[in-house]
Amino acid sequence: MAIAHHLLLCATPTKALCGDPALGAASWERLKALVRSLGLEDPDRPAGVVLRTKADCLRVCQGGPVLLVWPEGILYGGVTPERIERIVHEHVIGGRPVEEWIIRRTPFAVPLGGQKSSDPASA
Ligand code: FES
Repeated sequence: MAIAHHLLLCATPTKALCGDPALGAASWERLKALVRSLGLEDPDRPAGVVLRTKADCLRVCQGGPVLLVWPEGILYGGVTPERIERIVHEHVIGGRPVEEWIIRRTPFAVPLGGQKSSDPASA
């Protein structure tokens, strides 16, 4: 089973540091419903499965709720059910991140499928 994306949302953080927990909970419910209704959890999906996780905290802790999308390492802020809808359709399915809601990019230090160009082993 190939994994296309992993979406992590700080929906209802224990310390409620970065957003309204009610908005986070509503966004999480929308995400769950969308992923199911669009068949993104289907292990036979040709483009790969979309995983989702309710995270306690993604270490941003402002301007939330925050959604982290891997493998790109893109963090969206101010997430709402409506924003979830557009992010899933445009970014997760369409491959075009929604630039105006991105608050940070956290790519892996070593690119997927590759090595750092400064790594002597890759020379
Ligand atoms: S509580 Fe949302 S990132 Fe920390």
